[in-house]
Amino acid sequence: MSKQKVMRIGVLTGGGDCPGLNAVIRGVTKPAQDYGMSVLGILDGFEGLVEGRARELNNEDVSGILATGGTILGSSNKGDPFHWPIQKENRIEIADKSTSALKNYKAWNLDALIAIGGDGTMHICNKLGDMGMNMIGVPKTIDNDLEATDMTFGHDSAVYIVATSLDRLHTTASSHHRVIVMEVMGRYAGWIALNGGLAGGADIILIPEIPFSWEKIYDKILKRELMGKKFSLVCVAEGAKPRDGKMIVKGKDIKRHDPIQLGGIGELVAKKIEDNTGRETRVTVLGHLQRGGSPTPYDRILSTKFGFFAIELALQRKFGRMVALKGSEIKNVSIKDAISKQKLVKPDTQALIAAKAIGISFGE
Ligand code: F6P
Repeated sequence: MSKQKVMRIGVLTGGGDCPGLNAVIRGVTKPAQDYGMSVLGILDGFEGLVEGRARELNNEDVSGILATGGTILGSSNKGDPFHWPIQKENRIEIADKSTSALKNYKAWNLDALIAIGGDGTMHICNKLGDMGMNMIGVPKTIDNDLEATDMTFGHDSAVYIVATSLDRLHTTASSHHRVIVMEVMGRYAGWIALNGGLAGGADIILIPEIPFSWEKIYDKILKRELMGKKFSLVCVAEGAKPRDGKMIVKGKDIKRHDPIQLGGIGELVAKKIEDNTGRETRVTVLGHLQRGGSPTPYDRILSTKFGFFAIELALQRKFGRMVALKGSEIKNVSIKDAISKQKLVKPDTQALIAAKAIGISFGE
């Protein structure tokens, strides 16, 4: 690598965490130092950008973090500079703090800011770019719901947790001749439930894109019994809904980019199955186990490549771009395009077609 003019690069992790964030920070910092750049780690996502909290990053800081979960910089999904919550006695007011973000960006003498995050983070990146900041995006989310990249890092690790959890539930469900329902994450896109359910041998998978019929679920369980299978595994995405119903919203938090907090569909599905089939049913909510812990080797490799190619974009002064996986190559797309479309499971999604072909029910 040839030495270039010294640049100062900021890096932050925004939104919900996921396995692989540290691997990206390492993938950014190590080559940046080799290029003679200095790297400033901004703390707690955009909160640190608004509040002026950051620390220098060098090789020593990122050594040994490849396999560790979480983020050494901290993250937040409540720090949107354009939607900044201020607690006033017993109410919350929303303010625009984007000028503080710009002030700190300038005070830190940043030439570029690499933001590692999902859909919400990329929307903020786009607006900060319009204010004159040199933004570079790195796509993260266990949900894998950004159309502009074939894969976000974190998804493979979440799918691994879902599949291995189903493996464990399989043995106990089979021993007790029970139905076990497992609720997984996935707000509007069912990739975690589809891929995790397929890998873990679920008999029924329920996803937000396919509103389900209760009758079809009961039929599948009873048909399995006629074939001698006295247990069933159901993998349900938190955003799944019945044909005649709505997503189950557990709470709302207006401080967040997406204020809706989901949860509860697993309980409902388990209760309806028990009430309508008479089969003993249990429920497991996997929750944040899907976001914690060490990234899979696939995610470690993807994160490292994303980090390195983000630094290459900075070096080439290609701002307003997000690194993206296209086939097996790392390319880049405009952040504006990246936020224009959510990637959903479609009728022609091959994993869906294959899952149906091997007899998995989607409650259709
Ligand atoms: O977007 C990632 C995600 O893990 C969703 O699948 C889930 O609905 C949400 O974050 C949970 O967020 P929180 O940890 O803030 O409750």
